[in-house]
Amino acid sequence: MDSTAPPPEPGRRPHRATIAVTWGRPDRPGDPLNVPPVLASVYRTGGPVGYGRESNPTWAALEEAIGGLEGGTALTFASGMAAVGAVIDTVPDGGRVVAPLDAYIGSRSLLGHLAERGRFTLTAVDVADTGATLAACDGADLLWVESPTNPLLAVADLRALCAGARERGARSVVDNTFATPLLQRPLDLGADVVVHSVTKFLSGHSDLLLGAVVTRDEDLARALLLSRTRSGPIPGAMEAWLALRGVRTLAVRLERAQDNAGELARRLAAHPCVTRVRYPGLPDDPGHARAAAQMDGFGAMLSFECAGGRTAADALCAAVRVVTHATSLGGVETTLERRRRYPGEEHTPESLIRVSVGLEHVDDLWADLDSALEAAGRAVAQ
Ligand SMILES: Cc1ncc(COP(=O)(O)O)c(C=O)c1O
Repeated sequence: MDSTAPPPEPGRRPHRATIAVTWGRPDRPGDPLNVPPVLASVYRTGGPVGYGRESNPTWAALEEAIGGLEGGTALTFASGMAAVGAVIDTVPDGGRVVAPLDAYIGSRSLLGHLAERGRFTLTAVDVADTGATLAACDGADLLWVESPTNPLLAVADLRALCAGARERGARSVVDNTFATPLLQRPLDLGADVVVHSVTKFLSGHSDLLLGAVVTRDEDLARALLLSRTRSGPIPGAMEAWLALRGVRTLAVRLERAQDNAGELARRLAAHPCVTRVRYPGLPDDPGHARAAAQMDGFGAMLSFECAGGRTAADALCAAVRVVTHATSLGGVETTLERRRRYPGEEHTPESLIRVSVGLEHVDDLWADLDSALEAAGRAVAQ
């Protein structure tokens, strides 16, 4: 079953919302509208695939859609960390990696682990500080960036960092999980590679783990494909099918979640028990101007700090009822957690609560957060 993107009208690229709905579809008469989950380890000899570790029609459809959204060649992996690991694995032995002080804890942990074992050296930087980050890129092989960062929501100047890294001979990689390609296209901003935890917004329903790498460097894409086939961190066909189903509704989910996030950020910022809100959509956020210059929206992730430190934050997390106290992000449901509860998040303020804003009615979300803030205040007063 061929899966073919619709031919673009001459001179016009479809909107990303259209790509999300239409790419990665079979197009011959009688084909199903979407590629079904192809559950096969073995294929008859003579076709494009021989063995299930090499490729799969369901992954191929998802890869076509994600590649179309980011504007490059996509490869999917068994999880976001499998994608992160595959890219990190391209660093030469004895090389040097520049990576954020604030970024997803799993990426930092993998980089730190490999550096400790002597695989490469690691320089940690504040990626919001363009000058310091570029200074650290001299002689580096890879610049790892997240923007906005997890969980501090700092915004890196992607154009300046990617161009500067290239001038210095370092490959730039942007983890675009928080923004999604609907709101930010790092390859257009000069990045060499984009990685995703497809587990989050792209699939959007908190029911699977998957990852993706996207690049316009065809040699790198071939090398990553070879490494995936060799090592085997491949997606499951069911996961790929569910993820593509999620991608189809990404634009509308994100629009609602982002509207909710903006509204909650404003209401939280005005709450007497909230000491700081981190959301690039707020005009006084340090990342606002940069985000406005490189993103098409400010996303559905925010973090806030509450008065009363850890005690208040833990009480708030325990008190929510509409919002779920859980890790992860990017699902239809609003979730929150105190990130400092994890070892490795020592740079994160004690009371910082990261919120992944979902699609519930914003008034119900606010009523829940407001009463949880009240419960937090009572816990501190006790
Ligand atoms: C920004 C970011 N990148 C990568 C990952 C890793 O993805 P996964 O959990 O799918 O392995 C996560 C997971 O939370 C994440 O938040």
